[in-house]
Amino acid sequence: MAAAATGDARALRRACGRYATGVAVIGACGAGGRPLGLTVNSFASLSLAPPLILWSLALHSPSAAHFAPGAAFGISILRAGQGELARRFATPAADKFAGVAHRRCPRGVPYLADALATLACRVERADPVGDHLLIVGAVEGFEAGEGEPLVFYGGEFVRIGDAAGR
Ligand SMILES: Cc1cc2nc3c(=O)[nH]c(=O)nc-3n(C[C@H](O)[C@H](O)[C@H](O)COP(=O)(O)O)c2cc1C
Repeated sequence: MAAAATGDARALRRACGRYATGVAVIGACGAGGRPLGLTVNSFASLSLAPPLILWSLALHSPSAAHFAPGAAFGISILRAGQGELARRFATPAADKFAGVAHRRCPRGVPYLADALATLACRVERADPVGDHLLIVGAVEGFEAGEGEPLVFYGGEFVRIGDAAGR
């Protein structure tokens, strides 16, 4: 197989898309105390002791200003069948949470009501790397439910039925 030139962004995206991921909505307290949220698949576990996670945020995202070191944010990991929610939070809008069942923690961080798992985090570091902000979050709390995750593969939401109940 011939390797495409690294300057070919579409081919690189296609190659990286061969890595199946889960999908999460990252929520934080935005301007005027309004909840903000965006869909990500760059989330990954980084360290267990201390508990750290990472994800990356496009530098041009209007949300970037709200993920400075010390800021609180929440991660809602999506279930199979929540592809519409993933699309909604991947589409710029004034209030993505309007009409979406969610709860807000005392610090105003929003979590989706029917998430498969949630993690409460604080930004440990936020470093520009390439065209993204690499965000490392300290995990301050978490809850894990049961069920099938939403999976993103090859640019699409797919199912892995046999992951349910594990
Ligand atoms: C499956 C999926 C995964 C995504 N992962 C990321 C990601 O890891 N980082 C990122 O910055 N944007 C990611 N996006 C794009 C953002 O969700 C999208 O640009 C969103 O509009 C950003 O929110 P904002 O415009 O309110 O800042 C992803 C989109 C989809 C559909």
